[in-house]
Amino acid sequence: MASNNTTSFQDIALLLSCFILFVSVCCAANPPLKVGFYKHSCPSAEAIVQKHVNKFVSRNPGLAAGLVRMHFHDCFVRGCDGSVLLDGPNSEKESIPNKGSLRGFEVIDAAKAELELKCPGIVSCADILAFAARDSSCKVGNINYTVPSGRRDGRVSLINEPLLELPPPFFNATALRDNFARKGLSLDEMVTLSGAHSIGISHCSSFATRIYPTVDPTLDPKYAAFLRKICPPPAVNGTAASNPIVNLDSITPNRLDNKYYVGLKANRGLLTSDQVLMSSPLTSKMVVYNAKYGNVWAKKYAAAMVRMGNIDVLTGKKGEIRKNCHVVNN
Ligand code: HEM
Ligand SMILES: *[C@@H]1O[C@H](CO)[C@@H](O)[C@H](O)[C@H]1NC(C)=O
Ligand SMILES: *[C@@H]1O[C@H](CO)[C@@H](O)[C@H](O)[C@H]1NC(C)=O
Ligand SMILES: *[C@@H]1O[C@H](CO)[C@@H](O)[C@H](O)[C@H]1NC(C)=O
Repeated sequence: MASNNTTSFQDIALLLSCFILFVSVCCAANPPLKVGFYKHSCPSAEAIVQKHVNKFVSRNPGLAAGLVRMHFHDCFVRGCDGSVLLDGPNSEKESIPNKGSLRGFEVIDAAKAELELKCPGIVSCADILAFAARDSSCKVGNINYTVPSGRRDGRVSLINEPLLELPPPFFNATALRDNFARKGLSLDEMVTLSGAHSIGISHCSSFATRIYPTVDPTLDPKYAAFLRKICPPPAVNGTAASNPIVNLDSITPNRLDNKYYVGLKANRGLLTSDQVLMSSPLTSKMVVYNAKYGNVWAKKYAAAMVRMGNIDVLTGKKGEIRKNCHVVNN
């Protein structure tokens, strides 16, 4: 009798825990991202994105940099939810870190247009951007990785948030570390992802204080002289007459590789936030290591991009699949 009672109690407990396990696996409110999320719903999704990235980047290699940076700016503000793609006078696009410097929107639009023809309402803008950043990294760096997907698009984009969430170019190493830590990324991941500055450009305004009125002593003097030739000094009212652009990596500007770190060792980091990685004892060893072992850096970059792509994602029933990446659904 007593042993019978015990058995039925254990049976119920077992049944209950099976039920709880079943519910937590099948009906989780926040299912994780998954490699091949569109395998059945839109089998050609990733191939379509890659085709458009390859086409645009072949014509303009700078767009690869634009897309990698756009993914970063998406993920650090409200998570990777495509909020950076939304139009509007008070949207993220209009903020100081984004306005006039983000590029590659036309690549996302072209991919989205074809995806809406082939599988309408299935592939999120946030996932398109994550795939496009990966395909850009492959095209200009031969760095391959699989992108877990299933992100959904957010419905909010606020002009004040990029300035609050994104690290500015004058941050020192501890401030950069703390900024990335807030997003769950490690110090090594911060240094690794900064290697994205191995491609693309910066406007003079992002590093003007390093060359005017005096030259930052941590800058190679020859490089500083070159920068002063390209960038006009600020006028009396503080704004320079024009705002030219300079390659972030002076060694292999169109190649996503570890030469960025070699540049840092030669005091040729363009932004303060680049050079501090070498000058700070917190990170200098990581720079030296990445400069020496390019293949290890490439592997770490791939892993860190996946981790960045996971920041505060919307999945399951949260958010929506935007029809047009520029506007929320009505
Ligand atoms: C560590 C902190 C970082 C700071 C302070 C920073 C800051 C900047 C600044 C100021 C520019 C130049 C914008 C302009 O003047 O036009 C830039 C460009 C760029 N950033 Fe970062 N960034 C950081 C990290 C990252 C990360 C994590 C990625 C991607 C994984 C990234 C990717 C890029 C790329 C590819 C460009 C070139 C964009 C283009 O050519 O269109 N950056 N960044
Ligand atoms: C990455 O993919 C490219 C082209 O798809 C290929 O040429 C390259 O060997 C691959 N690299 C690695 C490290 O798998
Ligand atoms: C780095 O910047 C922070 C915040 O701006 C500041 O409090 C700190 O003293 C700086 N650290 C160094 C080593 O300069
Ligand atoms: C600052 O002065 C320059 C010429 O010296 C002028 O072109 C520019 O419009 C001025 N900018 C502002 C914001 O007043």
